[in-house]
Amino acid sequence: QTFALILAGGSGTRFWPLSRDAKPKQLLDLFGDTTLLNKTISRLEGLIPKENILILTNQLQLEAVREVAHELPAENIFAEPAKRDTAPAVALGVGLVAARDPQATMVILPADQLISDIENFHSVLSDAITTAQQSNSLVTIGIKPTWPCPSFGYVERGGVSPLAPSGLKNVPHEVTCFREKPAPELAAQFLEQGNFAWNAGMFIWSIATVIKELTTHNPELANFISELQNSDDINKTVAEKFDKLTPTSIDYALMEKATSVLNIEANFDWDDVGSWISVSKYLDSTESNNKTNSPLVEIDSSNNIVFTESKNTQVALLGVDDLIVVQTADSILVAHRDKADDIKKIVTKLPKEL
Ligand code: GDD
Ligand code: MG
Repeated sequence: QTFALILAGGSGTRFWPLSRDAKPKQLLDLFGDTTLLNKTISRLEGLIPKENILILTNQLQLEAVREVAHELPAENIFAEPAKRDTAPAVALGVGLVAARDPQATMVILPADQLISDIENFHSVLSDAITTAQQSNSLVTIGIKPTWPCPSFGYVERGGVSPLAPSGLKNVPHEVTCFREKPAPELAAQFLEQGNFAWNAGMFIWSIATVIKELTTHNPELANFISELQNSDDINKTVAEKFDKLTPTSIDYALMEKATSVLNIEANFDWDDVGSWISVSKYLDSTESNNKTNSPLVEIDSSNNIVFTESKNTQVALLGVDDLIVVQTADSILVAHRDKADDIKKIVTKLPKEL
């Protein structure tokens, strides 16, 4: 069987004041239709049956995730007892899927991406699933990079893999190097070199392969999975052991070290909307390039981003440029657009309840 594991426990502090600890990026309606988590679930329709879709989140977000994912069986939604980043979460997910079917293939999916070309998404993922089943490799999805973004992972693509199953439309290539979040200069070098792709944050592997790779490269997580597999009471084992795992992401914990990694290039649109700047691409644009989700009048003002939670607040801009303004019921953010990535710093200074 094939299972999907959706990781929906990130914090998303860059969207303050709209995002809060209990309501991070994947639970926001940033585009005026629905949440990113909901889009992630719907995108799997026709690819993975609902009873095989698992979601991992944390205690704070559990209730909101349950509400968004009400179409999934309630027992498929789990809350981690502590925030430990994606590596422990993935290990827990491997243990949960293995308990249902030790022969399973898994698709790990982030909950915070925008993809609209579902047909090609399905075609790439089903070829990735076939590849994972037949190659004993960890399969990644590559996105053509457009700028040296330092907040993504990069994969160096080699030639077509000799392990590639025949007859696939989307052919897997070898990965000669996986590098998570390189410094800007190194990212620029990767782009110049030309054979690097952004890591889309989706991983496709069989239970057996990921356990084998973890056993070699991350015994702590391999151990945890084996404790889950030998446990009479998974919940109890999770409660006892999970918060002791090293907090780190799966990219550092496994992908940078793994022995057998393949990559399939994505031929669908893809965006990890990581900041107000990236959201602004999807907002309405005015004559002076102000982006907004609200009615707006402008005089001598350009390049501003204005987002109001209620969507129908009248906004007026007079003689200001390059600002980010976000209004919610209890807070207002005014920032320079060059500082979009530093909003997370503001959050550390705020009173806890915000
Ligand atoms: N369950 C759970 N628990 N989910 C988590 C946790 C956690 O502790 N931490 C993060 N997540 C979720 C996030 O909500 C998101 O959906 C997904 O895991 C990925 O985490 P991010 O924190 O958004 O990762 P990233 O964007 O910095 O980097 C990853 O994705 C990039 C592409 O978007 C990496 O895989 C990069 O290599 C990749 O380029
Ligand atoms: Mg992300």
